Amino acid sequence: MADRLFEEPRLARLYDAFCRGRPDFEFYLPLVMDAHAVLDVGCGTGELLRLAREAGHRGRLCGLDPADAMLEEARVCSDVEWHLGDVARSEWTAEFDQIVMTGHAFQVLVEDEQIRRSLRAVRQALRADGRFVFETRNPAVRGWEDWVPDNAVEITTSDGERIRMAHQVQAVAGDLVTFTVAYSCPGWERDEVSWSTLRFLDATALPRFLNEAGLVVESQLGSWSGNPLTPTSEEIITIARPG
Ligand SMILES: C[S@@+](CC[C@H](N)C(=O)[O-])C[C@H]1O[C@@H](n2cnc3c(N)ncnc32)[C@H](O)[C@@H]1O
Repeated sequence: MADRLFEEPRLARLYDAFCRGRPDFEFYLPLVMDAHAVLDVGCGTGELLRLAREAGHRGRLCGLDPADAMLEEARVCSDVEWHLGDVARSEWTAEFDQIVMTGHAFQVLVEDEQIRRSLRAVRQALRADGRFVFETRNPAVRGWEDWVPDNAVEITTSDGERIRMAHQVQAVAGDLVTFTVAYSCPGWERDEVSWSTLRFLDATALPRFLNEAGLVVESQLGSWSGNPLTPTSEEIITIARPG
């Protein structure tokens, strides 16, 4: 079940504006461009695949997401396949040579069984020489400690609306972090508030789940510029292949 942040059309329309200037697509876009058939799991508004098509990708581009409001934004790009659904229930077999999960989408998978079923489906969808690339935030860095209203960000939409987005951690339990994101705008009757929980698996837990699903870690990086993973890296970028 997708959360309100992704299910509410007004918030889905704001998603890309709040992501402007993100550094990860410079890493992911060349991977997508080099592959013939790509599946973007948790594709959201589909920005990565839209950019790939715009950059001249001629092969199969396929985005999967359970949040219809996010896919509604993606559907503006009509020469990409958009599928509404949960990765754990997807049933592709050996169709993709590149599967990606960007924007920390992997962390929305919170329960062990949900992770296992999702990774099994990813493994099944991958060709034998394919790659699954995704990133998670390194729990050792405790990045959620910066998710406080003082770090709120503001954007101005093309309609001139000034919108503020403020995070607030509500609970930390083991490797699960629950937080709210409040969107406010002077022109709105009330704030839009979404609750989310993300799982922060560490660099040793990840390979265990991948191995159970028939995937092995090929390499792990610690930054979008390709630095090696260290205990203090903010990101754990994992490149996995069938093993
Ligand atoms: C943080 S957004 C990332 C969107 C996009 N990948 C990006 O980089 O901007 C996480 C996305 O994962 C999707 N999602 C949540 N649960 C999912 C599931 N079980 N299977 C596939 N996607 C899921 C959400 O609907 C949301 O669009």
